[in-house]
Amino acid sequence: MNVVILAAGQGKRMRSSLPKVLHPLAGKPMLAHVIAAAQAADRACGGVARVAVVIGHGAEQVRRAFSDRSDLHWVLQETQLGTGHAVRQAAGWLDDAVPTLVLYGDVPLVRPATLARLMQAAADHVGLLTVRLADPDGYGRVVRDWHGNVLKIVEQKDASDEERRIDEVNTGILVAPTARLKRWLAALSNDNAQHEYYLTDVIAQAVREGVTVNAVVAEEAEETLGVNSKSQLAELERVAQRRTAERLMEAGATLADPARIDVRGELVVGADVFIDVGCVFEGKVELADGVYIGPHNLLRDVTVGAGTEVLGFCYLERAQIGAHARIGPFARTRPDVVLADEVHIGNFVEVKNSTLGHGSKANHLAYVGDAEVGARCNIGAGTIVANYDGANKHKTVIEDDVHTGSNSVLVAPITIGAGATVGAGSTVSKLVPAGKLTVARAKQQTIEHWKRPTKQKK
Ligand code: UD1
Ligand code: CA
Repeated sequence: MNVVILAAGQGKRMRSSLPKVLHPLAGKPMLAHVIAAAQAADRACGGVARVAVVIGHGAEQVRRAFSDRSDLHWVLQETQLGTGHAVRQAAGWLDDAVPTLVLYGDVPLVRPATLARLMQAAADHVGLLTVRLADPDGYGRVVRDWHGNVLKIVEQKDASDEERRIDEVNTGILVAPTARLKRWLAALSNDNAQHEYYLTDVIAQAVREGVTVNAVVAEEAEETLGVNSKSQLAELERVAQRRTAERLMEAGATLADPARIDVRGELVVGADVFIDVGCVFEGKVELADGVYIGPHNLLRDVTVGAGTEVLGFCYLERAQIGAHARIGPFARTRPDVVLADEVHIGNFVEVKNSTLGHGSKANHLAYVGDAEVGARCNIGAGTIVANYDGANKHKTVIEDDVHTGSNSVLVAPITIGAGATVGAGSTVSKLVPAGKLTVARAKQQTIEHWKRPTKQKK
């Protein structure tokens, strides 16, 4: 299958310097959704999509955003003379041996199943995706004869009053036999109200040549909606999120409110996962069986082991969290954290580039950075791993069964031996020997006969 995605338009109403098709929907550019849908549909039909994207406004920026995709073919449409003109720019690249599917970079929610249905309806004919709208205003209308055969599409601006009453509209998405399509494109004229080369005029040409036009009516109007403004983008974002929420619930997750979850990447859930309101999932997140996610958490590229609880208000990035752990509330992990099973990371604890062994706990107000922490350790409230000397970062090793007292400062590079206890308020910068109590703080003294100063009378 040849796939041509139109993405040359300016998107003036977005009022943005970002080209329209790069605006993110559910965490990735709208154009990426369209490409993925086309590829999935073609796979379902046993083919391989050859994808060309027609770009114009912001062409370089669009290409750069997909620079890792060597499989895409870019076609420049220097001036936007209409949808037919846009497809014509790609004509030379189209393989006559397979049909051509036309899609739009700003119609991001079209479903692979619908495209597959359209491809099957096309065979040697033309397949046209249409939709019935309560308010068809602005769209091209699908004109049929008495038998229901499609005759042509009339743009709103060229339509008669009677034609404007038709509620079946053109989504713009179509499949056509390629050699014929090339001929039809070459024959388009711009003799119409907008002086544009309309892709839609190929329908009337097909009919004239006796090629059947099979209209496939989309089941969900949402999947045919285009984005022209921030408001429409927000509307489609909700639709996309709702679809994801449905998928999660089908997979067995319990969502406190399916309208209050945002997945901007890929979220994989096991059985009996609970997710409270206001959570944002970015990148790739995996929640194993029985994971509990409390309210208002952000997880970006995180895996969470079975039975672990992430209480509310955590901000977790690039972390691997074991099973039966307890994180938060108000915990923060910065990239590259590995927490073993049964670890507890509590309120106002920040962990960065560190590993914590089985059952270790940092329950309150601590910073653990660039550290390797063994099993069963207790990082006391207010413990700070001073990993940065102002120029370089250094590593800390905390062996198994260490307890650090409240407000201890561990100045890296340093090793705290297994079973050691660091007394509260200590600042340690040398090896802390295993199995002993080390205290490094001023000794407590009491000054006898000391008198508190009193205010002098004038
Ligand atoms: C088009 C259809 C209309 C249909 C509607 C559905 C035509 C003539 N009309 O109208 O029947 O109901 O879509 O939304 O096809 N584009 C280019 N280059 C161009 C012109 C457009 O790449 O020269 C791209 C735009 O970026 C946009 C898409 O094609 O993504 C549609 O163009 P637009 O001008 O919005 O078409 P409509 O007037 O909405
Ligand atoms: Ca137009």
